[in-house]
Amino acid sequence: EYIIQNNKLLPKKDAMIHFDDRGYYFGDGIYEVVKVYEGQPFAMDLHLNRLVQSSSKLDIKLPYSKEQIQEYITTLIEKNSVQTGLVYFQVTRGVEPRNHLYSRESTPVFTAFTQPAHNTEDIQKNGIDVWLTDDIRWLRCDIKTINLLGNVMVKREAADNNCQEAILHRNGTITEGSSSNLFLIKDKVLYTHPATNLILNGITRQLVIELAQKHNYSVVEEAFPVEVLEHADEAFISSSSVEITPIKAVYGQLTTTFPIGPVTQDLQTKFKELLP
Ligand code: PDD
Repeated sequence: EYIIQNNKLLPKKDAMIHFDDRGYYFGDGIYEVVKVYEGQPFAMDLHLNRLVQSSSKLDIKLPYSKEQIQEYITTLIEKNSVQTGLVYFQVTRGVEPRNHLYSRESTPVFTAFTQPAHNTEDIQKNGIDVWLTDDIRWLRCDIKTINLLGNVMVKREAADNNCQEAILHRNGTITEGSSSNLFLIKDKVLYTHPATNLILNGITRQLVIELAQKHNYSVVEEAFPVEVLEHADEAFISSSSVEITPIKAVYGQLTTTFPIGPVTQDLQTKFKELLP
């Protein structure tokens, strides 16, 4: 199994990370997760563009061009013979003696690995249970940073309550999932939080919105209160790894159930048609 460290393809066991990497001290870095279908990274352009956006928002200089990163990732996928899987890549600000104040002198560190994809067939067909809880994250959720403690804590809380995802609200307004975006459907209209600083603007979210509009569904990007969950006809989450996955029940601060509905199923079918 190979990984990429900076510009080198290495067996994973030979890779070494510097003790003073700011990613290690501060979670000072950015990342992307891309699904691989038939040996090809899906929607790679969009992921690379988002990486560039994250890097400029955090004043991290990308060590390579988008084209170079694309090439490294393609090489890695081939070397590891990934047909269906996930590719992860990240950039940390680099190595410096620990200091909150970064210098702008450090060289960013690029790493990438592949891993098998979770089998999503069952959850995509039968749905998941979600745990409604407080959004305890910071106010720049639009940046895809490796600093994910808030997300990690609510994911554990969800799992400890036998739920597969945490759905978050900030003072009663629904934002997104711990590692996914949320859509509600009412009278064939899709509702989702607007792409503000309070959510990550998921690539899958963007593709779902485009796809829905193309097929004459209305999409409303507006913040809505938790109570709306009780009045929705259907609900689903979206992400690169789970694509479109229906929600069958909500537990936690509010309890409600949803059928695996026709709009969700229709969008799932149409999303699959985008894939290689
Ligand atoms: N998570 N919101 C959050 C907080 C996320 O972490 C993710 C992705 C998404 C969906 O984004 P996209 O459609 O671009 O995958 C939304 C990835 C998969 C992860 O951290 O593993």
